[in-house]
Amino acid sequence: MEEYVKKATETAEYISGRIKTKPEIAIVLGSGLGPLVNEIEDVVNIDYKEIPNFPQTTVQGHEGKLVAGMLSGRPVLAMKGRFHHYEGYDISQVAFAVRVFKLLGINELLVTNAAGGINKSFKPGDLMLIKDHIGFFAPSALRGKNLDEFGTRFPDMSEAYSRALGEIAKKAAESKGFNLREGVYAFAQGPMYETPAEIRALSILGADAVGMSTVPEVIAARHAGMKVLGISCITNMAAGILDQPLNHEEVMETAKMVEENFTALVKEIVVNWK
Ligand code: HPA
Repeated sequence: MEEYVKKATETAEYISGRIKTKPEIAIVLGSGLGPLVNEIEDVVNIDYKEIPNFPQTTVQGHEGKLVAGMLSGRPVLAMKGRFHHYEGYDISQVAFAVRVFKLLGINELLVTNAAGGINKSFKPGDLMLIKDHIGFFAPSALRGKNLDEFGTRFPDMSEAYSRALGEIAKKAAESKGFNLREGVYAFAQGPMYETPAEIRALSILGADAVGMSTVPEVIAARHAGMKVLGISCITNMAAGILDQPLNHEEVMETAKMVEENFTALVKEIVVNWK
C-alpha cells in the first residue's frame, strides 16, 4: 500500500476512535466561516495537533480543529480551518483530509470559502453556489502515482459539483428568502491577491469569483466518488473591479457580517440533504 494511503488510514482510524457518531456529511469551512461549528450539537472537538499525520493550519482566522456531531439532525464532521497550497503544503497534503473523510465512509462533501467577486452584478456579502470551477493554473491534487484505493487515474470532472445538491441549496435559499448567486469559481494560488489584469483574464475565461482554496479538495473528493456542494461567500470585489486595494481584514469582516445568513443557509441545506 502506498505510504500516503497508510497514513490516511491511520488518521481515519484515530478519528473514528474519538467520535461517537458515524458522520455522513463532511463540511470544510472557509475563512471567517468557522462559527458554523457552534451550531453543531453533541460535539466532539479534535484539535489538528492531536491527529496523527494531520497538517497544521497557519492562517489567521483558520483555527485548526475537527468538530464531529449533529447538525440539523444529521451526523456531520466539520473542518474548522483548512490547508492551502500557498502555506507551503504539497497539493496532495491539501487534499489529505478529504481522503481521510472518504476512509471514514463519508461520501458527501460541503465545501465553503471566502472569494473575491469577479461578476460585476455580485456584491460583498453575497453567497454563491459554485456551479463549476477553473483550476488548471495550479498542480492537481491527484499529481503523482494514482491512488487506486480512492479512484481512477483520469477521473471525470463533468459534474464536479452535484446538480442535485445544487438544487437543494437553491431551494433552501429560497425558503429562507436569500438571494443565492450562482457561478464559476476560479482557483488562484495566492497568497497575494490577484492583479487587475489577472482578474480581467479570469473574467474572460468565464469565472464569477476567485479564491485560494476548494479546488484541490473538490478534485480529491470527485476522484474518490464523493458528491460535492460548494458555497462561496463573496467577501470583497476582486482586484480592479473597484478602484480600491484588497486586504485580509476586509475579507474577515465581510465573512463575519454574512455569518448569520451563511449558518442559516447551511443548516437548511443539511436538513434537506439527500
Ligand atoms: N482573491 C483571492 N482569494 C480571495 C479573495 C480574492 O479577491 N477574497 C477572498 N479570498
